[in-house]
Amino acid sequence: MAAPFIRPVPKPMQSEQKNFDLILFGATGDLSMRKLLPALYDAHAAGRLHPKGRILGASRSRLTRGQFLAKAAAEARPHTAATPAEWDAFCQRIDYLPLDIGNPQDFAALAAEIRGKADSESIVFYLSAAPQFFVPACRSLAAHGLNGANTRVVLEKPLGTDLESCRLINDGVAQYFQERQILRIDHYLGKNGLHNLLALRFGNSLFEPLWNNRHIRSVQITLAETLGVEARGEFYNGIGALRDMVQNHIMQILCLTAMERPQSLDADALRDAKLQLIRDLLPLDPAADAVFGQYTFSDGLKGYTQEHKVPPESRTETYAALRAFIGNPRWAGVPFYLRTGKRLSRRAAEIVIAFKPPADTLFPAALPNRLVISLQADDETLHLRLNVKTPDGAQNTAPAELGFDTRPGRRPSAYETLLLEALAGRAALFNRRDELEAAWAWLAPALEALRQNPPHPYPAGSTGPAAANSLPAAGDAWFEGI
Ligand code: BG6
Repeated sequence: MAAPFIRPVPKPMQSEQKNFDLILFGATGDLSMRKLLPALYDAHAAGRLHPKGRILGASRSRLTRGQFLAKAAAEARPHTAATPAEWDAFCQRIDYLPLDIGNPQDFAALAAEIRGKADSESIVFYLSAAPQFFVPACRSLAAHGLNGANTRVVLEKPLGTDLESCRLINDGVAQYFQERQILRIDHYLGKNGLHNLLALRFGNSLFEPLWNNRHIRSVQITLAETLGVEARGEFYNGIGALRDMVQNHIMQILCLTAMERPQSLDADALRDAKLQLIRDLLPLDPAADAVFGQYTFSDGLKGYTQEHKVPPESRTETYAALRAFIGNPRWAGVPFYLRTGKRLSRRAAEIVIAFKPPADTLFPAALPNRLVISLQADDETLHLRLNVKTPDGAQNTAPAELGFDTRPGRRPSAYETLLLEALAGRAALFNRRDELEAAWAWLAPALEALRQNPPHPYPAGSTGPAAANSLPAAGDAWFEGI
């Protein structure tokens, strides 16, 4: 049965109007060109940036402002709908400063630049750089007095590779900035689909009463990609799926799906609720509850070890699946199946809530209700499987999908949302250190299992390693689309 789609009425956008100075470290890099500058353009074009706000690109490349803008026009503009004239108008906001983040001397010029723009109400340093630069950069900023009350520092993921390295970074940065000034980014927290999960749970009376082990049989969270590692082989090979996707994106989705109702949507209330959920997770037993995989050559698609700059003997996992249990009264006994992978058969970012069938059903053929929440901006939908009576025999039913498309007209990208939150000095959509450290601590046994066992091979373009099929309990199976 075709899903009836209902479109919600778009709400007027919040306007963010603080005069700002946004310093993009790593401005010539891939993230800046593909995501950050395009997101800033979109915010500018939508009138969401203060007219006097400035973007100051900083990176090691000894470029002039003109050379930097030429690079941005070639590499960032294609990720927007801007005409050359519209892009040029946006570029009025952009300056460039060659700066080696590892060289404290270079920060004197930065400090002078920033002092030159005395009217900034909000100064944001976005560190799109390798994590080993986070602490030295913060030290140099503080040495020049660039850590006052109106400054924020944004730290890109990955924040360390395990609990210890994450703590070291957090301790180091905390010497120079207060926790409320430190914005640890996870771009999934900028996705409207995930915000919608909060609205679904706490803005309606329908779901929350059912959101527990009396009514829910299992929950699946899938972040699946059809792409391989592309040009990022060198970086990815030292990271792998668990650190790239599970420790951050999947853990955050898990938190928002399963946490108790926060006291409010304020930064600390929200993050307290997420932290409590991570603390309630039962210890992971990787021998029973984890499967890792690596894609291999199939149907003309390269295997992982044939990718550019990936060593042929690499054991890095490109797929991870976990079964988690939460030891609190709401969720005791409910499996949470978590998985992510590259080069899979479909692209998806979704949460699947499988409900229990009614006791003593009068309709034995009816399928259990199921709610599928899709989070990607280009597929931001809810689908609720209901059973409806068919006109034939008295007990016959057929499943119907009640569909709901949550997309308003213009959908800001996750980075646009997060950059605006950072410029406004709001921390709710960023991670607090205790959450991230708790997530690393919970994943420690899985990291250890990875070190000891090679990943299972799976053909590129498939649904992942067959071994992962043993994780769902009898009666549950991995969801592969409606
Ligand atoms: C990033 C990972 O954080 O998220 C990438 O480093 C991954 O490996 C990306 O491809 C996926 O994000 P999205 O928004 O496209 O689902």
